[in-house]
Amino acid sequence: MAGRIPQSFIDDLLARVDIVDVVDARVPLKKQGSNHVACCPFHEEKTPSFTVSPTKQFYYCFGCGAGGSALGFVMEYDRVEFVEAVETLASELGIEVPRSGGGRAGEDEGLERLYAALAAADRFYQGQLRQANEAIEYLRQRGISGATAKRFGLGYAPPGWSHLIDEANAGSLDDLLRAGLVNRNDANRTYDRFRGRVMYPIRDRRGRTIAFGGRVLDDGTPKYLNSPETPVFHKGRELYGLYEARRARRDPERLVVVEGYMDVIVLAEHGIDYAVATLGTSTGQAHAERLFSVTREIVFCFDGDEAGRQAAWRAMTHTLPVLTDGREARFLFLPEGEDPDSMVRAEGRAAFEDRLAQAKPLADFLIERLRAGIDTTSVGGRAQLASEAAPLLKTMPAGVYHDLLIDRLAAQVGLSPERLRADMTGDAGSKRAPERSEGPRRRAASGIRMTPMRTAIGLLIQNPRLAERLPDDHPALAADQPGSRLLADLRERIRATPDVTTARLIEAYRDTSEQKHLERLASWPFATDAESDRDQALAREFDDTLERLGEQVRRARRGALLEAARERTLSADEKRELQTLMSAR
Ligand code: GTP
Ligand code: MN
Repeated sequence: MAGRIPQSFIDDLLARVDIVDVVDARVPLKKQGSNHVACCPFHEEKTPSFTVSPTKQFYYCFGCGAGGSALGFVMEYDRVEFVEAVETLASELGIEVPRSGGGRAGEDEGLERLYAALAAADRFYQGQLRQANEAIEYLRQRGISGATAKRFGLGYAPPGWSHLIDEANAGSLDDLLRAGLVNRNDANRTYDRFRGRVMYPIRDRRGRTIAFGGRVLDDGTPKYLNSPETPVFHKGRELYGLYEARRARRDPERLVVVEGYMDVIVLAEHGIDYAVATLGTSTGQAHAERLFSVTREIVFCFDGDEAGRQAAWRAMTHTLPVLTDGREARFLFLPEGEDPDSMVRAEGRAAFEDRLAQAKPLADFLIERLRAGIDTTSVGGRAQLASEAAPLLKTMPAGVYHDLLIDRLAAQVGLSPERLRADMTGDAGSKRAPERSEGPRRRAASGIRMTPMRTAIGLLIQNPRLAERLPDDHPALAADQPGSRLLADLRERIRATPDVTTARLIEAYRDTSEQKHLERLASWPFATDAESDRDQALAREFDDTLERLGEQVRRARRGALLEAARERTLSADEKRELQTLMSAR
């Protein structure tokens, strides 16, 4: 794992890169006016609504509302995480990505200490297992051989409150706390988190132990206790058993996703050494992405009851967005009350692998489940099916799998695939109007209602130079209105960075709660964009907006003061303020 990439580098990268080149290398662009356009790579369309602005260094799609910087585009299009997108762009520019703490070798020392503490705890637990007859007996009863226990690094946390602290030599108390191995109670006492449990180390890609699961030997509660989220452990991304599966075979043909630690281990015991488990969470997109980076086929294994089917549905919705060509996902539903552990013990390896080979293809599961409860012989029912399928299909990348699903659904609803596709993308028969400046369609593209505050922020982020027209003492900057802080913050940033582009501004808000919001506003199709005297028209619109915004803020403040006056005596300052507000308009 590398150190953090400094924000200043990201900003600098975006100042140097040209989004037109970045996009054009992946999606050929045509010049149109001051922009470049193409058919959107993120949804299906026949007429281009995907636009790249060289001045804003920003892309947006009027059709599906996608939008972002060059970095955001690479993340979406190449389907990579932020850091990889930064590396891609940097290498396209031929520059090196610096890491805080001095290069790759200078990995955050704090993290190294966490890994060291976890490794020491791992050794300690494994050593303890050798002396714990009760735990050994438990594992034996569950049919786990010594070899398998070793392969998964199973261990034992003895009962008692301070073994790790006293005996394990696992680093400072602070390291143990940060690694989630030791807890602190309200009385400020510290104690071992795991006590009297069989321990399952959770390993990362490289085999480093990053967390533990611990199971009671009897029927105590909680049955399983897991490490909390720590700087090195994120449940939403990790998969139990993936490291061990890859050690068994580097390029497994398929991976099986099961629900429990014990399922993974018992399957491995029976020679099915390609199972992994999510860690008490449902399968998310990050999981699916990671699995597909290792294999082409995922088989999700669930209990056959309704809860299992619902969990399967959730897993499916998170898998669709990463189902590019060549990847496959299937679902295996076990008889009620069985889990892979009990199943493979009862039937053996060959029978279980038969079940895997016959698991339900994702397309079948999706259609079956959508159809349930819908009468597809009626027109209304067919329309309902199509409309419920649309949002799911929209999340999928274009490709043969997407086409296949459309064909299958079309057959179900008795429409031609072309017709269904058109219905779903919403550009049926009546082609989308070429000019999109007016009316409800503007709202449809971005799905938000434009208030004066949003308009001001939108105009500002799209045209940072407008910041000079926003005076220090504008009432909206100090108000406690939604958006006030953002408006002020944006203005600060623009003033601090001459020639900053829309894209660089947006990137400054990555991973904040404002990001989505700003992206939408950055792609809002303001009517002034089309006017010939654009700069002047923009200035006018911004001034008008500030005026309306000011009025709105004053009105709200006046209302609040009047309200307060009914309940208490206003201070002298408040009275003066109210007087000014009342006389203003
Ligand atoms: P056993 O066979 O009884 O050992 O359990 P299992 O492996 O069949 O697991 P089960 O189906 O009971 O649960 C599946 C997964 O859910 C486990 O592997 C845990 O990740 C999680 N889980 C189960 N029980 C608990 C619990 O009490 N607390 C927490 N945090 N997670 C649990
Ligand atoms: Mn079980």
